[in-house]
Amino acid sequence: MQNLSRRRVLTVGAALGLVGVADPSKAWAWSSSGSIAATDTVTDPWGVWDDATDPLLADLLENGQVPAVNTAFEKWVRNGDPLPSGIPAALTTWIQAHNRLPSWADQTKLDRAAQFNKRMSMYLFLLYGLGSGIMSTVIPREARNVYWSEGGAVMKSRAAKTFTYGYDLSAVDAFKPTGHFVVTSNKTRLTHAAVRHLLPQSSHWRAVTDDQDFIPISNGDILITFHSLGTFVHGKLKSWGIRMSAAEEEAFLHMWQVALHLLGVRDDFIPATWAAARQQSQYALTPLLAPTPEGIDLADILLGLTSQVDLGVTRGFQREFARYLLGDRVGDWLRLPRDYASRAIIEVGWPAYVAFREGTSGIIPTTYSLFDQFIRGVAMLFLNNGTSATYTPITIPTANRAG
Ligand code: HEM
Repeated sequence: MQNLSRRRVLTVGAALGLVGVADPSKAWAWSSSGSIAATDTVTDPWGVWDDATDPLLADLLENGQVPAVNTAFEKWVRNGDPLPSGIPAALTTWIQAHNRLPSWADQTKLDRAAQFNKRMSMYLFLLYGLGSGIMSTVIPREARNVYWSEGGAVMKSRAAKTFTYGYDLSAVDAFKPTGHFVVTSNKTRLTHAAVRHLLPQSSHWRAVTDDQDFIPISNGDILITFHSLGTFVHGKLKSWGIRMSAAEEEAFLHMWQVALHLLGVRDDFIPATWAAARQQSQYALTPLLAPTPEGIDLADILLGLTSQVDLGVTRGFQREFARYLLGDRVGDWLRLPRDYASRAIIEVGWPAYVAFREGTSGIIPTTYSLFDQFIRGVAMLFLNNGTSATYTPITIPTANRAG
């Protein structure tokens, strides 16, 4: 597959009738009848990028205008802020067109999602941080993209920027004029467009990518990452027996639907229900998970960053918890060391901790304080980053990782 062009692979795949198998090298067969557009068509999202944004960023990069844009963006942080001044006219026009919620956004659902995020915050820090964050390292394209882009060399600040996104998304006023999320999403969308222009110029990335003429971060890739975040988290909360009303579940999905729209994903790819999301995830994410040298390195760095603070548990415990969240197949791929004693404690103690927290069991487990300290430690790790002076704004890259 390494040396076949993507276009040729798609043509060959279609000719061989390779539908129903989710692999970016094969034809896509997820019908948009399960999407919010509810049209019954089959379009390959791995062949859709961001036509409204990509040429603009290519121009800004080629003309050396991105550093000045990043400076102008420093004062553009809240959804209700005036548009940044002193930026190229084409970018102002782009922001005017994109700095708003889609017509189908439902503020009542977004408010409900915000309250839900608040109530779930402890679980969310753990699941996004130790679950989704590490899962991203076994999504081969994402791992290679992140590793070989500029930020791959400075993972601490990159992780902090990614946290900015999650923090802004989960804030109670995320989508309101005082919130930050619409602006943060737009900066992220512009960053992705920059990466699409930059990464194909990286000889390191070209040497490892699965397709020589591939452009990174397609709509298909973004959907997969969404499943490693929203769909994964929703599934875990359900399987742990966390109390969630149907309206809360729907609201949490709606928040992600709006988030995907803001990242430039087309409505005919965005799942309309959790059932459709699960189906798309099983179809598109699960078969693609695999180890890469880049992903193994990134996982080690990310887990090392979380070990820098005292979570009240050993490194072995922390890595076993990642295994517990993601499964041993992923743990083995990432070469996470085993700690069977910690695993035994987690398998018994975590469900008991959740049951006590959720009020479904009146018995305080003996390991309650261990898990409580752990979960609070993870939360503080992220919160310190999000609320202190180290809050890291998202900036558009101008180069790739050097080597
Ligand atoms: C940058 C979020 C999907 C690759 C970013 C940033 C955020 C973000 C917040 C800016 C912070 C930073 O520079 O690290 C998301 C979300 C996604 C998504 C929420 C989907 C729901 C993807 C996918 C890929 C990708 C699918 C690749 C296959 C990158 C790269 C950067 C980036 C390479 C630039 C890092 C750099 O500056 O070097 N993303 N992303 N992202 N993202 Fe994404």
